[in-house]
Amino acid sequence: MNTASAAPARSQQSIEIRPFDAPVGAEVLGLDLSQPLPADDFARIHRAHLDHHVLVFRDQRITPDEQIAFSRRFGPLQIHVLHQFQLAGHPEILIVSNVVENGKPIGLGDAGHFWHSDLSYKERPSLGSLLHAQELPSEGGDTLFANMHLAWDTLPDELKRKVEGLRAEHTYLAKYAELQRRSPWRPNLSQEQLDQVKPVVQPVVRTHPETGRKALFVSEHFTTRIVGLPQDESDALLQQLFDHSTRAEHVYRHVWQPHDLVFWDNRSLMHLAAGTPDHLRRKMYRTTIEGDEPF
Ligand code: SIN
Repeated sequence: MNTASAAPARSQQSIEIRPFDAPVGAEVLGLDLSQPLPADDFARIHRAHLDHHVLVFRDQRITPDEQIAFSRRFGPLQIHVLHQFQLAGHPEILIVSNVVENGKPIGLGDAGHFWHSDLSYKERPSLGSLLHAQELPSEGGDTLFANMHLAWDTLPDELKRKVEGLRAEHTYLAKYAELQRRSPWRPNLSQEQLDQVKPVVQPVVRTHPETGRKALFVSEHFTTRIVGLPQDESDALLQQLFDHSTRAEHVYRHVWQPHDLVFWDNRSLMHLAAGTPDHLRRKMYRTTIEGDEPF
């Protein structure tokens, strides 16, 4: 993580961090991310991110380059396998959008249709993702976040004993064909793309590398089976874990405001895009930071 900024020293901005009355999340006020962030402000943001797992930076009039620069302070950025939806000239930005122009989708319209943690199908899944609102619908388009530390903490002891130490397979392709059947946003993948998304095995319970807290790390989008269990037993156990993780008391629902930049911790959370009515436009820019190999 790049804590020592190359930015020139300047006075601290008067940042206010207001936790939400919710199982995760805080709002960050008084910060302009178009300006370079001095090391002490960065350290406050970093700490708040670890404490609250979702940070909502209000009213950020930032350019793609500024979003990329801020994201890079936390680690290298990952390029999404669907290069069709990269922002032109900025491969680090994935366009998440339901907009179709001249018969062509401009972005990935069904990103987040199932609960997931970003890039859990990679050996080094994402540390965190940043989503910047470019165009919001007048209704719908919310994003839900489930606190996977709480999900682990509140799991019945018997279930904890059952799953601790287990490993599960994650694959990008788990729901691909299903999504492809019902949306225009899932192109056929080339061999090169398929080679980038080979299945991986991850711990069912992971330890956050910075806080040491345990979290459940399985999702309905990408986890296909628990290694070593018959498929029916694995399906039933995974369903139990998914249902428990997304109980209302673990979930924060983000209702977007213009120019919100939302930064979440994929090591602590799963998220879900609640969906946008077809006749309304939604366009977001996502950057995705690489994390560690889960343990
Ligand atoms: C995502 O899963 O990255 C997209 C979430 C959203 O569009 O709300």
